[in-house]
Amino acid sequence: MADPKKLFIKTYGCQMNVYDSERMAEAMGADGYVSVDSAEGADMVLINTCHIREKASEKLYSDLGRLRKLKAENPAMKIGVAGCVAQAEGAEILRRMPLVDLVVGPQAYHRLPEMARAPGQSIDTDFPLEDKFDALPERKALRGPAAFLTVQEGCDKFCAFCVVPYTRGAEVSRPVERILTEARGLVARGVRDITLLGQNVNAYHGMMQDQDWTLARLLREMAQIDGLERLRYTTSHPNDMDNDLIAAHGDLPKLMPYLHLPVQSGSDRILKAMNRKHSTEDYLRLIERIRAARPDILLSSDFIVGFPGETEAEFEQTLDLIRAVGFGMAYSFKYSARPGTPAAEKPELPADVSDARLQRLQALLGEQQRAAQSAMVGREVGVLYEKPGRQEGQMIGKSDHLHAVHVNDSTGQIGDLVRVRITAAASNSLAGERLPA
Ligand code: SAH
Ligand code: SF4
Ligand code: F3S
Repeated sequence: MADPKKLFIKTYGCQMNVYDSERMAEAMGADGYVSVDSAEGADMVLINTCHIREKASEKLYSDLGRLRKLKAENPAMKIGVAGCVAQAEGAEILRRMPLVDLVVGPQAYHRLPEMARAPGQSIDTDFPLEDKFDALPERKALRGPAAFLTVQEGCDKFCAFCVVPYTRGAEVSRPVERILTEARGLVARGVRDITLLGQNVNAYHGMMQDQDWTLARLLREMAQIDGLERLRYTTSHPNDMDNDLIAAHGDLPKLMPYLHLPVQSGSDRILKAMNRKHSTEDYLRLIERIRAARPDILLSSDFIVGFPGETEAEFEQTLDLIRAVGFGMAYSFKYSARPGTPAAEKPELPADVSDARLQRLQALLGEQQRAAQSAMVGREVGVLYEKPGRQEGQMIGKSDHLHAVHVNDSTGQIGDLVRVRITAAASNSLAGERLPA
């Protein structure tokens, strides 16, 4: 048998890209490729790109620049560009970078093996009607006990700053039965923790026979799968948190006490300009209801500072909202104008103003994150071991609240779900001791 060909995939962007990269690796695996962890010596390099902010998309062209030398040494090497920059820039990438052999948009991954076999340059950025995942092989290669599972893709919200509705297309939900089959398959391979993914995951409405299921209904069904111990979902929009989903956080012990619920800003005028369709008051009331259902839930969010026209007072309102909620975790970004979005038409704030605001925002969020970590000390939590630690006899896993936890446990195995008492909080992780079962 011929030596297997080597495939290196570099992944940028959100968890959906991580999931897609795994699926693409498997599709290529069926075509005789094995995954390697460096571009050096690879027969094919695939860059799975992100277009969300300017800096994210620029990485593609610097990566391609570096690949030029490898391609000169090995002209047979295939170079592919996938993901959201592939969708947004399409044929422009082939023109600008002749060393690229193929450009494949996020909805066309099932065509990747065929494109890789074709001579010359090829491109596919269509939005086909069929579910791309149906045409991809079943998931086999798994790296650990926690996995992502995409249930919904695309977005119809059109926030004024965001490229996702253009790069990922309209909201589409996968049918319930396919998701359940994929979940059972993952559990049969040792997965115990599944995070359901969607750009707008709580807008999920998938078909089950002739009924339309919500995300809450899907979660309730998945909670019945034996051997599946933990469920999470991301990313949600505040306007799609329906009563049943909030109630599920109280009813389902397997639904972990962590929720990522981006708010973006604490100013109603800015939220309106962002086309978010919720107010700060709506958000605060929603948080109250979620906390009533699950008091120990850890809340996470996304923030954008320096949106066009944001005043100092409006920025301070975002700080006020953060103080009012108390986030255990958060991601924050400086506004980045994206070509083709409505906000990109408006004049930008001076960079130093946005930089200073981002620093102040991150200082506050950092304080809250540390406070949330310190508050875990003394508490008993579940930890799912994902890998050995750097020290002998140490295991690292994720807590129910998604904190990384280091545990000295010389008999611990990857995939064990254990009870742990948290004993200390460091800057980015916790330490704990294993409790008897
Ligand atoms: N679907 C999710 C997240 C989409 S992208 C949601 O509705 O919130 C992840 C985060 O990137 C967004 O929440 C937002 O905070 C940030 N983001 C998106 N576009 C951006 C832009 N043009 N500039 C800066 N940050 C942006
Ligand atoms: Fe982008 Fe808004 Fe859709 Fe989130 S909800 S993906 S921020 S358009
Ligand atoms: Fe980036 Fe596309 Fe995800 S733009 S954040 S990779 S949906």
